[in-house]
Amino acid sequence: MQVNIFDAIKSKTGAMAVFLFKGASLPTELRALDKQLGGMIEMARRTADFKEEKNEIMLLYTGGLLPTPRILLVGLGEAGKFDATVWARAVGTAAAALQSRKICEMAILIPAVAIKKLGASRTGLTAAKAAGVAAYQFSKYKTDQEAVFPPFNFFGVAGLAARDAKNFLAGAAEGAAIAAAMNFVRDLGNTPPMEMTPTALAQTAKNIQKEFPKVKVTVLEKAEMKKLGMGGVLGVSLGSNEPPKFIVMEYFGAARARGVNVFVGKGITFDSGGLSIKPADRMDEMKFDMLGGAAVMGAVRLIAAQKLPVNVIGLIPATENLSGGSAYRPGDILRALNGKTIEILNTDAEGRLILADALSYAAKYKPKTVIDLATLTGAIVVALSDQYAGLFGNDEKFLGRVLSAGASAGDAVWPMPLNEQFTNLIKSEVADMRNTTAGKSEGGGASTAAAFLKEFTSFPWAHLDIAGTAWSMKPQSWIRVGASGFGVHLLYELAKRFV
Ligand code: BES
Ligand code: MN
Ligand code: ZN
Repeated sequence: MQVNIFDAIKSKTGAMAVFLFKGASLPTELRALDKQLGGMIEMARRTADFKEEKNEIMLLYTGGLLPTPRILLVGLGEAGKFDATVWARAVGTAAAALQSRKICEMAILIPAVAIKKLGASRTGLTAAKAAGVAAYQFSKYKTDQEAVFPPFNFFGVAGLAARDAKNFLAGAAEGAAIAAAMNFVRDLGNTPPMEMTPTALAQTAKNIQKEFPKVKVTVLEKAEMKKLGMGGVLGVSLGSNEPPKFIVMEYFGAARARGVNVFVGKGITFDSGGLSIKPADRMDEMKFDMLGGAAVMGAVRLIAAQKLPVNVIGLIPATENLSGGSAYRPGDILRALNGKTIEILNTDAEGRLILADALSYAAKYKPKTVIDLATLTGAIVVALSDQYAGLFGNDEKFLGRVLSAGASAGDAVWPMPLNEQFTNLIKSEVADMRNTTAGKSEGGGASTAAAFLKEFTSFPWAHLDIAGTAWSMKPQSWIRVGASGFGVHLLYELAKRFV
């Protein structure tokens, strides 16, 4: 997707999007345009045919009054509530609406309020990212070309001062790169699980090394994992014929003496629940159980593409969780890489088992910080719905940085509690700990999962439970259903804070 700056009012594009606040009189940049259009925009408002609600759209035709044939009115809602999210969704809504009508280029008339409130750079970043994310479609398996939307080119911009234009364009280039990384992650998640196996995930990482030689990729095979004692990954993999992989991605963009920060991502390429099998309803969505790992992969790729001067290690334990004849059982005891033993009560609490090995592995780097992303619990969906990822950790300062990175990125996260009471709930009679609480009556499933992970940390650590945010089957006007790309931008913003 390209971004250019040109005078969209004087040039021809598929459509020009203009953005309107509820009830407000037309801002200067729109008044001139409306005059050229014979008052068409004012008329749409005055008739109340267009009510300027958030993400409301209306397509108008310019009848030869402008070189561009179409004007797309996009509502912004109340001016007082304008922020980066409102702006992102409005631009995304416009891009997706045009693309689904097979109109593949758009100019946008930048509202002066956006520049004033967000600055030119963030206005550009947010707009280009939003358009890139909105125009994504997973069409690989569509044979009916009528159902495939053409690629979208987000083009020109009008209504910018020369000084702002430069910053807008720089921001937009970064936003387009972020969207590309998110869409890369979405492709991995949307791919059917018979294809997106641990082997395919590992190959994807190796391909990143080919594209960005600064990213060094090592894949630990089953034999090496056995030698090291990664009983978590190996235990979970027992019920599957697909070999597990432990993917290590190392990017040194700064002197090694500066230390490293580790990203860990859950890479369950399909979670049937294992012998503690899940109900059939929505089990298909468990192909998305690798989206923590994919987000880590996408973030490392983006950080390398943008040449950030930081050191980042990505760790992705990858396996299926199936119920084949040699599957691990409730009652089994696994030994994680750090030597701790885990009694299995429920084979569906598998994510924490593979993360136990990955967090133990992270310690070898003596990292400054470690953050893990995992579609870990249904309980976090109950608590926070699809609105926020749950944030847990052991270091207030690091948690503060994660919160601030999330706010910059528009990846919404909410702090969740973690204390010794949750740790007490996972004590075992026969092993060091067990992988779930004994009964459902305990509640707090997202916190007990986090308490489990905490047992494998010896460094400043944050855990993001992204089970509610990593994908959605509810279509929105600014994003299509399926994997969302959640977490990629957050990790990128976090990495900027490592500089
Ligand atoms: N991958 C699931 C979590 C999940 C469930 C994500 C639904 C998104 C939607 C995870 O492996 C899991 O099954 N967790 C169990 C844990 C329980 C057995 C303690 C859960 O949340 O039910
Ligand atoms: Mn599970
Ligand atoms: Zn899972």
